Amino acid sequence: MGRNTVASIDLAAIRHNLQIVRNLTSTSQIVSVVKADGYGHGITRVAGALQDTDLLAVATPGEAAALREGGWKDRLLLLEGFANADDFELAQSLQVEMVVHQQAQLDMLEQRGMSPKNRLWLKIDSGMHRLGFPLSDAQEVFAAAESLAGPGGVILMSHFACADEPENPMTQKQIQGFDRAAMGLDARQSLANSAAILNFPTSHRDLVRPGILLYGISPDPAQSAATIGLKPAMTLSSELVAINHCAEDDCVGYGSTYQCPEDMRIGVAAIGYGDGYPRYLPNGTPVLVNGKRAFLAGRVSMDLITLDLRGHDNAKIGDPVILWGEGLAVENVAACANVVPYELICGVTGRVPRISV
Ligand SMILES: Cc1ncc(COP(=O)(O)O)c(C=O)c1O
Repeated sequence: MGRNTVASIDLAAIRHNLQIVRNLTSTSQIVSVVKADGYGHGITRVAGALQDTDLLAVATPGEAAALREGGWKDRLLLLEGFANADDFELAQSLQVEMVVHQQAQLDMLEQRGMSPKNRLWLKIDSGMHRLGFPLSDAQEVFAAAESLAGPGGVILMSHFACADEPENPMTQKQIQGFDRAAMGLDARQSLANSAAILNFPTSHRDLVRPGILLYGISPDPAQSAATIGLKPAMTLSSELVAINHCAEDDCVGYGSTYQCPEDMRIGVAAIGYGDGYPRYLPNGTPVLVNGKRAFLAGRVSMDLITLDLRGHDNAKIGDPVILWGEGLAVENVAACANVVPYELICGVTGRVPRISV
């Protein structure tokens, strides 16, 4: 008997979500972020569903290479630029647009020479203090970047720290700081990630950079994906492989962390942290058994989980179990452990087959 544990990837949902982003941003170009293997969905598969995007963006030259090998011929952006000469040469040969966020990269560009076709993306740190040139250096580094870039010129970009919190003044502060620093510079601009696309329309500018929205997930805990009109792209599912009849006070799983409050059935499903269903998910985390809610009962082990089957009197071995996706938003699962949904979808491991639907 095979282990029926799969991540189904709904390509129509990804196309639909891209259209939702277009509707939200109207005139901006869309840079679809597909790093980390397309947020766990499979990078070339996701690229195939995003033919209508304006660019794709990845984090590493290896990801860019995978996209080119997979047949992506259009514009491609390397979000962190290059870390060394080998990365730079690879990025050049792949004809990708590169982000430059520190002086050492500008120096290397000067020494090695950019492909004349390439645009440069100049990253300004508007307050997140992760990557980017300080606001005070923007005018000076822009002049340096312009002299190195190809005819496509320089695109100015920045990234937000708190756009998922609409009431947080940080995003406005970042926008204002960026605008002051970029005053008078003749360049297109890209600021907004998914949360800013939703919450800060003044940040949309020339190019937006959505990631999580494309996968049908809300970046803002205050707005559900369904309210935004998104459809989940990944459904992680398995099936019941055993059912135990337990008595009141019986304990379940490693550490005996669940004690049966009454005589009850405990279902066992074929998924665990070896598949990327994290061990930190607590008792009471929802799943769907035959489309209806059931709950984790006992610690997640490497290959298996145990479920409270009260209220599921007809459930039997072989019945479908959905961990997240269709009918159960991954945001709700993530909230049970106070993690972000990004971490769950990116964490599905290689042993789980991805199937396009
Ligand atoms: C520079 C940059 N832009 C855009 C994104 C997309 O973010 P999100 O998935 O929140 O839309 C990311 C992702 O982390 C990023 O690092």
